[in-house]
Amino acid sequence: MMNRGGRRLTSARRFAGQDGVMSDRRDVAFVTGAAGGLGLPIVRRLAADGFLVFAADLDRAFTTERIDGIDGATAVELDVADVAACRLAIDAAARAGRLSVLVNNAAMFPSGPFVEMTTDEYDRAHAVNQRAYFFAAQAAARHMVEQRHGVIINIGSITQHGGWPNIAAYAAAKGAAAAFSRALATELGRFDVRVNCVAPGAFPTHAEDIQPDGYETAIYAGQALQRRGRVEEIASAVSFLCSDDAAFVTGQTLNVDGGWKMA
Ligand SMILES: NC(=O)c1ccc[n+]([C@@H]2O[C@H](COP(=O)([O-])OP(=O)(O)OC[C@H]3O[C@@H](n4cnc5c(N)ncnc54)[C@H](O)[C@@H]3O)[C@@H](O)[C@H]2O)c1
Repeated sequence: MMNRGGRRLTSARRFAGQDGVMSDRRDVAFVTGAAGGLGLPIVRRLAADGFLVFAADLDRAFTTERIDGIDGATAVELDVADVAACRLAIDAAARAGRLSVLVNNAAMFPSGPFVEMTTDEYDRAHAVNQRAYFFAAQAAARHMVEQRHGVIINIGSITQHGGWPNIAAYAAAKGAAAAFSRALATELGRFDVRVNCVAPGAFPTHAEDIQPDGYETAIYAGQALQRRGRVEEIASAVSFLCSDDAAFVTGQTLNVDGGWKMA
């Protein structure tokens, strides 16, 4: 099967199971933060690419409403900070087909002066923005290593590259997403499991609630491209990294930011 761009899709291929028998089971993608501004387009795009998509977010009713009409997508109620629940949800998704993709995308956006952040605020942000990425990846990797196939995408942020005030806990986790992706790519490469980080620049979602007045001016001053990013452009990057076109790409951070931060 080809997608609209004529690209061959991993999800449509038959694959050999543990016993070497060819299987027609669908390729499965598990996406966290799936009801959000960037999560929903990722779900929509991966479903269009042919994946059976498990769309995980805090509120099942809201997520179900958001994914209404997306063929191949199923809502999962999940607090990713609950490691045991996350593992159960990923294991359940893996039983529905071949777990090919995990997109760690859920996030919360603590902001405020660094010197005022409490341990409780920090711990909650860390549990969602970093610890959950780590253990969701572990749950998925257990399946991927066994089947010698899989792609993990950690959604980072260009805040890892530059200094921004009042988001220290958030930026620390996002920097960790990139470092974690590199470490994991190295460790899992011999099992044909690829791990990459997608680092969005500025996109019009709830993530912008933590930005100061004048943010739009800063965006245009920073970006090479003089327009706002479209949420579908993150989904395109994720789709590419999940596809066979990116079969030799691992351990990378792809900035999708209109040329704000250039490596
Ligand atoms: N929008 C941007 O400009 C931007 C920039 C850089 C990075 N990012 C990253 O993109 C990703 C998506 O953010 P977004 O812009 O779509 O924000 P968003 O607020 O629209 O979406 C985040 C989603 O995560 C979900 N979520 C929060 N805590 C959760 C939990 N404990 N368990 C399960 N789900 C939970 C929320 O319910 C929400 O649906 C995040 O990782 C964010 O850090 C976004």
